[in-house]
Amino acid sequence: MQPILTLTVNPALDVSTATERVFSGHKLRCGASRLDPGGGGVNVSRVVQRLGGRTLAVYTAGGPTGEAYRRLIEAERIPTLAVPIQGSTREDFTVDETTTGKQFRFVLQGPELSEPEWRLCLALVADSLPVGGYVVASGSLPPGVPDDFYARVARLARRHDARCIVDASGPALAEALAEGVFLVKPSRRELGLHFGTTLESGESQVEAAAGLVADGSAEHVALTLGGEGAILASKSGILRLAVPDVEVRSTVGAGDSFLAAFVLRLAQGRTLAEALRAAVAAGSATVTTAATELCHREDVERLEAGLAAGQPTEPREQPSAARGSRRGSVSSRPSLPE
Ligand SMILES: Nc1ncnc2c1ncn2[C@@H]1O[C@H](COP(=O)(O)OP(=O)(O)OP(=O)(O)O)[C@@H](O)[C@H]1O
Ligand SMILES: [Mg+2]
Repeated sequence: MQPILTLTVNPALDVSTATERVFSGHKLRCGASRLDPGGGGVNVSRVVQRLGGRTLAVYTAGGPTGEAYRRLIEAERIPTLAVPIQGSTREDFTVDETTTGKQFRFVLQGPELSEPEWRLCLALVADSLPVGGYVVASGSLPPGVPDDFYARVARLARRHDARCIVDASGPALAEALAEGVFLVKPSRRELGLHFGTTLESGESQVEAAAGLVADGSAEHVALTLGGEGAILASKSGILRLAVPDVEVRSTVGAGDSFLAAFVLRLAQGRTLAEALRAAVAAGSATVTTAATELCHREDVERLEAGLAAGQPTEPREQPSAARGSRRGSVSSRPSLPE
């Protein structure tokens, strides 16, 4: 398998902690803190590696936070190419409120990148793109990076016969779609913003995803629906998959885990239906872990097997027939090859 290349122009040093209650006017005494090397593409690389795949992460790093970031990612033994930048790598801050189970996520905009810096990112991608392989460009664009940055990645990929996958929102997503990509993975909120609607109904979701395939914006659209699973639109039709029954602890990194498992299974030559099952399993496995922690391989494989069997994945005290049949089975319209 060729390595799955990922690109993260706006990585974040994820700081997470917990406190009893978040309110204004007083010091909020927090528990121990945890540091993780976060950001869309790097998270995808981390999950690909955990699931046994090969990856290479291209990312930017600068300042003392960039140094800390570099050490964390090296500790996970992820093959990387770091682009040094003048500014300081941003920090994101996640606080779990222990008395309510609520989670507060503070996401900073990131340092400004100069034109030579973002052009170096593109040059490294061009040098490392596996012919016939995959490049995943994921996450927000920091100040200074043009809106068509991911569209440029898509053009590079086309020139190298590689497949470009984009997980972005707003203008960066719009420009990538205008260029045409192999796959996009918007959440309902992101695709809704793109179309200026809320995408409440299942019909509107399918229509939006299938529309992007029909007009050539993307060969595949994986529309993730949080606790309602995901829809995959491609020229072969529509697949939908509900989530397995899991205990939700923290949704940080769910979309990145979904995407990592999806791309990995495609790179391993599996079908779209199999890739979708692995993706939903990985997203759902990540929501069972605390704070910024990502999924574990054994959880993903257990949930994946459960989804493949179309059955509840864990023994229940009082199995519910209705729930068992609603959750976890792939329904397709029309059906895709297994
Ligand atoms: N509440 C949940 N219960 C079970 N699985 C979930 C839940 N929320 C998310 N997931 C899993 O993670 C996947 C991705 O979730 P989601 O649609 O929220 O994407 P996201 O990229 O994390 O969202 P956003 O980028 O808007 O924050 C889902 O398809 C599902 O597999
Ligand atoms: Mg997302």
